[in-house]
Amino acid sequence: PYYGLSPPVYPSPVGNGTTSARWAQARMHARDMVAQMTVEEKANLTRGWPGACVGNTGEVPRLGIPALCFADGPSGIRGQEFVSAFPAGIHVAATFDRHLMYQYGRALGSEFYGRGINVALGPVAGPLGRVVKGGRNWEGLSSDPYLAGSGMGAITRGIQDAGVIAAPKHWLLNEQETRRRWTPTGHAISANVDDRTLHELYAFPFMDALREGAGAVMCSYQRANHSYACQNSKLLNGVLKTELGFEGFVVSDWDGQTSGVASANAGLDLTMPSAGFWGGKLVEAVQNGSVSEERISDMATRILASWYYLHQDKGYPPPAIYNNTEKHFPVDVQADHARLIEEIGAAGTVLVKNVDNALPLKKPKFLCVYGYDATLKASPWQNRDRYGGGYEDNFGWNTFNGTLVTGGGSGGNSPPYVVSPFHALQERVTRDRGILRWDFYSDNPPPYLNTDACLVFINAYASESFDRASLTDEFSDRLVLNVASWCANTIVVVHSAGIRLVDGWITHPNVTATLFAGLPGQESGHALTSVLYGEVNPTGRLPYTVAKSESDYGHLLSPSASSTSSSSSSLDSNDDIFPETNFTEGLLLDYRYFDHPANNKNNSLAPRFEFGFGLSYTSFAYSNLSATLLPLPPGARTRHGLAEYPDRTDTQVQGGHPALWEVVAVVRCTVINAGPVEGAEIAQLYVDGPGRDRDSPVRLLRGFVRVGPLVPGQRGEAVFELTRRDLSVWDVEAQDWRLRRGAYEVWVGASSRDLRVRGRVTRRV
Ligand code: NOJ
Repeated sequence: PYYGLSPPVYPSPVGNGTTSARWAQARMHARDMVAQMTVEEKANLTRGWPGACVGNTGEVPRLGIPALCFADGPSGIRGQEFVSAFPAGIHVAATFDRHLMYQYGRALGSEFYGRGINVALGPVAGPLGRVVKGGRNWEGLSSDPYLAGSGMGAITRGIQDAGVIAAPKHWLLNEQETRRRWTPTGHAISANVDDRTLHELYAFPFMDALREGAGAVMCSYQRANHSYACQNSKLLNGVLKTELGFEGFVVSDWDGQTSGVASANAGLDLTMPSAGFWGGKLVEAVQNGSVSEERISDMATRILASWYYLHQDKGYPPPAIYNNTEKHFPVDVQADHARLIEEIGAAGTVLVKNVDNALPLKKPKFLCVYGYDATLKASPWQNRDRYGGGYEDNFGWNTFNGTLVTGGGSGGNSPPYVVSPFHALQERVTRDRGILRWDFYSDNPPPYLNTDACLVFINAYASESFDRASLTDEFSDRLVLNVASWCANTIVVVHSAGIRLVDGWITHPNVTATLFAGLPGQESGHALTSVLYGEVNPTGRLPYTVAKSESDYGHLLSPSASSTSSSSSSLDSNDDIFPETNFTEGLLLDYRYFDHPANNKNNSLAPRFEFGFGLSYTSFAYSNLSATLLPLPPGARTRHGLAEYPDRTDTQVQGGHPALWEVVAVVRCTVINAGPVEGAEIAQLYVDGPGRDRDSPVRLLRGFVRVGPLVPGQRGEAVFELTRRDLSVWDVEAQDWRLRRGAYEVWVGASSRDLRVRGRVTRRV
């Protein structure tokens, strides 16, 4: 009913601390503190000031409240020395490993803590990945909301366990870079989405971050259902602060505030990086009654509540943010993170082709290494002496500028060093007293006919501010084909900031193996060689669908910027003053789009590599699926076939009603290592619930678990716990999550299309 419309939701809910005793106490402290403040002091807390950090709030020295320091970004502290460059979000997602996701957040958080940064601007689930060419998809985890949500929850908890406030971003529907911002000549794109899709797809992964206690949320630049996200009362007052019981504060994206009174009343709590439309104007608005005193008090209280929630009032380290061109005392926060970075680097590397056991390499005596992505190659005009850092440096880090370990823009990071693939391969070959030949420049490098294998490195770059031009490039495809034309053992490694198509060469008989090596961070070469040489048996899985051709993605391929008056859907018409894009595909992103019968007629849309796919050096057999529905808790009633819960109240708890997180079903199955070597399997659970209609996906990922490592012949058990939310649909009429009555089909397998065992549970009451 609300398609394209953003209904007003006022007034802005006042935080109440009902989530937990810890929030209640934090809220109480904050309220007592704010009660002592003048309106000017409150207004000072809610705005940015120039300072050393990417964002700095105003301070209240009289009451001992310091300026808070905000910094990018989701995969490492950007622009500083002595900090680590972690793998990007999309690489972490490819591990399908919650434990690593948590450790990632924890290590990341400890670096922010060590540098006295109060708020880490991440993790990212917006963009989710609707637009395949989206410039920032790699910052986030996956276009599957369950996988993304698992990462958002684990990373948020990790960051906050380290004492730092996490700011999941960008809330909400920030799905393309094209026209993402307001300019004097036109408004930002309006992402128009229906209510069910908003909940089941886009808000879903943020729920996990909120559930884990996220103290801040960053609202996004673009419009959502025609209303700017940072002044959208439905999204901020409604979904975030009412339905999801958010206790913390909403911070604007940088210069993302587009009004003063409207944004205040719609639920924005902090504007960055300057006064924006607030500062003295907000004081005036409170004095003349346009914004209530209660609202500005709640803004300040929410900011301080998160500060107290993370105990940052007790001896938090002072900000150690430096201008790297000036001499300063080094604050080294890298600790032992290189080891974890290497582990995640390897765990997120996806093997998609491996014929005749081309991999693992068996002590090769002679290796050829080709391609610009194999090594560090300083371009003469940018990034001459470092690997990234400032915004501008990352922007310049394009395809032909060396090996790709992260993407560009605010989500990039600042590696202390980069172990390139060539560097790490050379270490290995040296150890084996072998020989190496290379060419990093030519797309038609010289043949060495005595080589054991040819490793070809290519990449696909992406950056904030721009959507991608294409999912392939001719130079790289030509390079692979030229090498494969004479080298019978051509192994291709792709580093990519998002989906990279491979149909230009993947079926070539001389291409014996291919790896999607993601965006692995500073230990790139070490992570990769551990997989190439078989010390790590790959468990990485694709967090997206690799199609055969760009057109297979249909209207989801390219960003749109068409106005209502134009019918074209993939056209950047800059003269449109009110550009908009209708999310007509609803829930059907990525594999859900490819699997849906309306698109996949006669299997015509079979992808090259499906979501969840990835090979191992061993193989696994699945058996004995059992699926059990847990009984309804005592006192539960049903109405219209839908379960009603006695504890359903209007009391909000951060992350949504607690009943949503109860385990309602358990699925188990046996996994046996049926191959020749030790390895672990990522078992994936897919569900098809009752009452599926034309618009619903055929099946959804609703569980994944690492089983093993198992030695050959060994059996392990995969156990999946399904929560009420995992099995529920958003009921637009009731404005609530509903568990439907009927049969739930469950499959467990090795990918979204390699489903091995099947079962069913039936909700009868
Ligand atoms: C704009 C980006 O959209 C956001 O993600 C980032 O945190 C801020 N700039 C600050 O750099």
